Amino acid sequence: MQLFIDSEAGLWRTAFAQPLLGWYDRHARVLPWRSDPTPYHVFVSEIMLQQTRVEPAIPYYERFIRELPDLQALAVASPEHLHKLWEGLGYYSRVQNMQRTAKKLCGEFRGEFPDSLPALLSLPGIGEYTAGAILSIAFSRPVPAVDGNVLRVLSRIALYREDIASPRAKKEIGALISRFIPQERPGDFNQALMDLGAGICRPHAAPFCEDCPVRECCSARKEGCAAALPLRAPKKERRTEERTIFLVLSKRGVLLHRRPAQGLLAGLWEFPGLPGRCGAAEAAALFPPGAVFSALAPARHIFTHVQWQMSGFLVRLNDIPALPEEENWRWANLRALQEEYAVPSAFKSYFRLACALERAAGEAEAPEGRALNGGPDEGSAGTSPLR
Ligand code: ADE
Repeated sequence: MQLFIDSEAGLWRTAFAQPLLGWYDRHARVLPWRSDPTPYHVFVSEIMLQQTRVEPAIPYYERFIRELPDLQALAVASPEHLHKLWEGLGYYSRVQNMQRTAKKLCGEFRGEFPDSLPALLSLPGIGEYTAGAILSIAFSRPVPAVDGNVLRVLSRIALYREDIASPRAKKEIGALISRFIPQERPGDFNQALMDLGAGICRPHAAPFCEDCPVRECCSARKEGCAAALPLRAPKKERRTEERTIFLVLSKRGVLLHRRPAQGLLAGLWEFPGLPGRCGAAEAAALFPPGAVFSALAPARHIFTHVQWQMSGFLVRLNDIPALPEEENWRWANLRALQEEYAVPSAFKSYFRLACALERAAGEAEAPEGRALNGGPDEGSAGTSPLR
């Protein structure tokens, strides 16, 4: 790794940290988690920001803090409430881990976040990055918080040519920042790096080097290769899994099934489904005689390591069959679909269709029997029960 002055942290502070902080003072983004950076606020915002970009995170953050204002409230929130607050962000295990952390802190740490790295790292779902953000932003400890933006900025500044997706890159760049992170404003410094990465030192071929407050320190700019950095090893291919979804409708609503407590989308409600692609005859054998089938349009959902290629059937039942294991099976009407059950966004298009069908069923039953409307969005996968 080439640094413009490697051994002199003091010079780095003057030439890099000071202009960066000056720029941050003028240009910092006004964000709700910055106005009162308690450890809890930083914790919630940082976990959310691992899921989504800053703008979409803002309403999620504001609602979360409004409804669960502290660790104690988070510790006792119902799973349904948590899932609703997280719905659309994805990776539900993160919010489940947040609650485990809240419970642990309420039980073992007198309801407060610890201010040491080892103690923070012992908490569920808190890794080096989140711990660094909490320590620096909430506790003013000079600890780096190395996210993707920071990796990009520093890989350019220091002409770092290793694969930045590797754990080693995080370690080395973290160690480099530790050498010159200012003692006085470590949280602002880390957030200034994040803002610089988001607004100026942007990904791919788009950095605004001429507007950069630390351009004089940037080795990649000197070499004319800022746009070519950082380097990243090609990603492994995601495996594809086929899945057959059954949107089962009866007079009591749409059938939901609770996923197992472990694994992908753990504990969440889904439309029942089977791995693989089920044919019509195979599907018919699963339901009571008299069920009416129509094919659902296909839909795809991409997770980190796997993508689901979904197809399936709308199944209309005349009778209401007894459900096995009541605990994990429910009929949900429109209100319950919208308010009670957090159905993951993997099923978004089928969820919209289910809501539209339930709404139509409700309207058909209403005394005036209004015309059907409010069908699923045009053009999105799975919006039509018929192919
Ligand atoms: N991305 C991750 N954490 C952030 C923060 N605190 N401010 C802005 N962007 C971020």
